[in-house]
Amino acid sequence: MTGAVAPELAQFLSERRQAVEAALARILPAEDVAEGSLAAAMRYSVLAGGKRLRPILFLAAFEECMEEKSYGALDSERLADLDEAAAALELFHTYSLIHDDLPCMDDDSLRRGRPTCHVIFGEALALLAGDALQTLGFEVLATRPRGDASAVTRAESVAVAAQAIGLSGMAGGQALDLAACGHTPGPDALERLREIHAKKTGRLIEAALLIGALHAGAGLTLRSAVSRYGDLLGLLFQIADDLLDVTSDSSTLGKTAGKDDAQSKLTYPALFGVEGARRELERTLEEALSAAREIARSGTILGALAEYAAHRDR
Ligand code: IPE
Ligand code: IPE
Ligand code: MG
Ligand code: MG
Ligand code: MG
Repeated sequence: MTGAVAPELAQFLSERRQAVEAALARILPAEDVAEGSLAAAMRYSVLAGGKRLRPILFLAAFEECMEEKSYGALDSERLADLDEAAAALELFHTYSLIHDDLPCMDDDSLRRGRPTCHVIFGEALALLAGDALQTLGFEVLATRPRGDASAVTRAESVAVAAQAIGLSGMAGGQALDLAACGHTPGPDALERLREIHAKKTGRLIEAALLIGALHAGAGLTLRSAVSRYGDLLGLLFQIADDLLDVTSDSSTLGKTAGKDDAQSKLTYPALFGVEGARRELERTLEEALSAAREIARSGTILGALAEYAAHRDR
C-alpha cells in the first residue's frame, strides 16, 4: 500500500498544489531584481517541486474549521490572500531545507531531484536565500488577508510561525539533531529523539495547521484539537522520513538516501530497527487518526492526509 493515494485525496492534493504553486509564483521575487543572484537562488529552491504538504495542511485545516463557507465558495480576492498565506509556510519550509543541506549541517548535494542550493549558488548565497525566504514568509503572513478585520489573525499567525521555527521549534530541533549525531544512544534516547522530531519537524507542521485554523476563525477548543493532531502528524511525518532514508533510494526520494546512518543520526530506525520503526509509525498514525476525528465537521481529509504522510513513497 506504500505510495498509493485514494482518488479523492489525489484530487484534493493536486488542486491545492496548483493553487499553492500559483500563489508562490505571485509572492516570490522576480529573477532579475538587483541583488546579484539572490532572487534566483530563492526561486531555484522553492520552485524545484516538493510535495507542498505544509501549505496543503494549512488549507485543509482552514476548510475543516471554517463554518459557513467552503474554500471553493470564497471570492477570488479572499482566495488569493488565503493561498498566499498558505504559501508562506512553504517559504519557511524551503528555508529550513536549504540550511539543512549546507556543508555545516547535513552536507547534502541533492534536494528535490536537483543539486542543492549551495552546490549551484555557493554557500553564502544559499545561506542568504534561506534568510530571505524566512523574512518573506513573515512579510506575507503579516499582510494577508488584507483588511482591518483580519489584523488579529495576521498578528497571531506571525507569532505562531515565529515560535514554530525559532529556538523552541525548528531551529532548536536542528541544534538538538546535530548535537545527538555520533553518540551511542543512552537510556534517555527515545525522549531525546521525540523532542528532536517534535521540534525540528513537528512544530512547523503543527503551525501550518494552526494558522489555517486561525484564518478560519477557530476558537480555543478547536485550536487545541488541531494542535494535538498537528503534533502527532509531525511526529509520524518524521518517522516516515527516517524510514524512507533507510528503505528507499535517492532517485525516488530526490535526495540522498542512506544519509542518516552514514552520519550516525539519532532516528527511529537507528533506535528501533526498521520493523520497530514501522510499528511506531502505525501506532502514531492510529493516534493521529483519532485526533483528526476530534476536529470539526468530519476530519476526513485530515485523516486521509495522515495516511498519506505515513505511507508516502517520497
Ligand atoms: C523534508 O520535508 C524535510 C523534513 C522535515 C523531513 P518534505 O518531505 O516535506 O520535503 P519536500 O517539501 O516534499 O521536498
Ligand atoms: C530535516 O530533517 C528537518 C528540517 C528541519 C529541514 P532531515 O535532515 O531528516 O531532512 P531531510 O531528510 O534532509 O529532508
Ligand atoms: Mg537534518
Ligand atoms: Mg537532512
Ligand atoms: Mg531525513
